[in-house]
Amino acid sequence: MGDTEAIKKILGTQAVDRFVENGMRLGLGTGSTAIWAARRVAARIADGSLRGIRAVVTSLQTELEARALGIPVFTLNDAALDCTLDLTIDGADEIDPARNLIKGGGGALLMEKIIAYSSRRLLIIAGASKLSARLCDSFAIPLEVAADAVATVSRRIREMGGEAAIRIAVRKAGPVVTDLGNLLLDVTFRQAFDPQRMEDELKVIPGVLENGLFTKKKPELLIGHSEDNVEYRTA
Ligand code: 5RP
Repeated sequence: MGDTEAIKKILGTQAVDRFVENGMRLGLGTGSTAIWAARRVAARIADGSLRGIRAVVTSLQTELEARALGIPVFTLNDAALDCTLDLTIDGADEIDPARNLIKGGGGALLMEKIIAYSSRRLLIIAGASKLSARLCDSFAIPLEVAADAVATVSRRIREMGGEAAIRIAVRKAGPVVTDLGNLLLDVTFRQAFDPQRMEDELKVIPGVLENGLFTKKKPELLIGHSEDNVEYRTA
C-alpha cells in the first residue's frame, strides 16, 4: 500500500523538529517525503525558531522549493561548508533489514549519494511500505549513465545476470534526462546479491556515473507505520 501524504508530512516535520539544530549544515533530499522536511525547515526559519541553517540540495526539485521558501542554499563547493554536512534528511525506495538502501526513484541518485556520503549523519524518512526483506524485491536499482554508454552498460549488466531498462519519461517523449544531463537505467537482479559488493561492482562499470545502492553509510531511520506510529531505528 502506498504511504499517505499525511504520513509523509508527519515524517518530514518530525525529522526537522527532532534532529535539526541551529547553525547546521543540512542536506535536503528529494522526493515526495523528503520535500516535507524542506518545507518544515522553511517554516521554522520563517517563524524564527530555526537560525543559521546552510542547506545543500540534492535536486532541482528541492532547489526550486528551497529557494522559493527562503532557505539559504549552498553547494559543497562553498568553502564555508568545509566539504561536510552535519545531517542529511532524505527518502528511500527500498530499505533492507541491515539498513542498506535503494534510492533514485526520483532520478536524483548522483547528487543524493554525494551529499549523503558527505554527511556526518544520514536520516532516512520513509513509510513502512519501503521496508523489504531483500533489496531489488520490489524496486530496481537505478544507474545514472552517460548517454553514449547505455548499450555497453546494459550488456555488462546482462553479463552480470541482470536486466536493464532505460527509464522513460512521463509527459515528455523519450528517456528521462537527469538534472545533470544523463540517462537512467533501472536494473533488476533475480538472484540474491551482496549489496555492498554490488554497489562497488556497479560503480566501476565505464559509463556508470553512480548507482542507487547506498550501503556505505548506515542511516538512521524514521519509519512511518501510521500517522500515530513513527519508529526511530538506529540498528
Ligand atoms: C529520489 C529518491 C527519493 O528519496 C526516493 O525515490 C523516495 O521518494 P518518495 O519519498 O517520493 O517515495 O531517492 O531520487
